[in-house]
Amino acid sequence: MTLTAAPAVAAALDLLSGRPLVVLTGAGLSTDSGIPDYRGPGAPRRLPMTYQEFVSGAEARQRYWARSHLGWSRMRAASPNAGHDALAALDPTLLITQNVDGLHEAAGSRSLVALHGRIADVVCLGCRRTSSRAALQELLATSNPGWIERHASVASNPDGDVELEETDGFVVPDCAECGGMLKPDVVFFGENVPAHRVARCYDAVEALGDDGVLLVAGSSLTVMSGLRFVKRAASRGTPVVIVNRGETRGDPLATCKLEVGCSEFLVELCRRVSRFGGNALAPNQETPRISGESPSP
Ligand SMILES: NC(=O)c1ccc[n+]([C@@H]2O[C@H](COP(=O)([O-])OP(=O)(O)OC[C@H]3O[C@@H](n4cnc5c(N)ncnc54)[C@H](O)[C@@H]3O)[C@@H](O)[C@H]2O)c1
Ligand SMILES: [Zn+2]
Repeated sequence: MTLTAAPAVAAALDLLSGRPLVVLTGAGLSTDSGIPDYRGPGAPRRLPMTYQEFVSGAEARQRYWARSHLGWSRMRAASPNAGHDALAALDPTLLITQNVDGLHEAAGSRSLVALHGRIADVVCLGCRRTSSRAALQELLATSNPGWIERHASVASNPDGDVELEETDGFVVPDCAECGGMLKPDVVFFGENVPAHRVARCYDAVEALGDDGVLLVAGSSLTVMSGLRFVKRAASRGTPVVIVNRGETRGDPLATCKLEVGCSEFLVELCRRVSRFGGNALAPNQETPRISGESPSP
């Protein structure tokens, strides 16, 4: 059966078409770009480093940066998939992402809050100066010659991390300005999302009222960071549509829950909105393509 032939999918497309949208995305949206999620079937059981552990001492940071040096060189090679392209074309009132991979930015999404920051940015915990991860990556490479080549076979984890236990001897640079600790500018477990980002998302969700819909794509909603927007929408009577393979913590609050691929669904939504006179696709813009599928006539 095709995606659109499923009655629940057709009902969700009807509900979403022609209404103001806020979209919340998670790691499941980037699995089609080859970046693993945390909690999908077959995802490795692992706990990412907490903020408290990161600042606990030089050894923890050595462990973090040695692994991340390998992991980021892989994550940065990923490209947006059809789901990212469809969301850029749909141009919702606000796109909230829990992802740190920068793929919504790369796809050209305009109204975007990267709730947990971007792995491509680095912040100094001493002077708060931010810098680019690409520049730090070069410094890490010159300070640790041959590291990537020697560990080419280790497996990738989500979040730009890899499976690597032996990280002794890895040289970690400090801030060139103040000698402070450098940290990726992403929200670690144990840290809070900056209040101004949360406030912007709540404002957009509340503005949906009865007219709009909150659409969640590819998130288990395990962390409160994303779940709170679903709770807020539901408490205001705004319909919530969740598109996720597997259970989510928001399921009891959803008006409609679909266990289908999120890229495929978003491409269909994009087609539907453009057919109904929405502004999802510019006149000469091609419909985003699901890999392996021909563009529709
Ligand atoms: N790409 C990234 O930037 C990335 C990757 C992993 C983790 N993280 C971080 O970790 C946290 C993880 O929470 P989360 O809720 O975003 O992710 P999660 O891993 O908890 O949940 C992802 C969900 O998506 C589903 N899924 C996977 N591929 C799918 C597909 N193609 N179609 C439909 N569903 C699919 C999985 O079954 C799972 O339920 C986030 O806060 C994020 O900051 C980021
Ligand atoms: Zn500094």
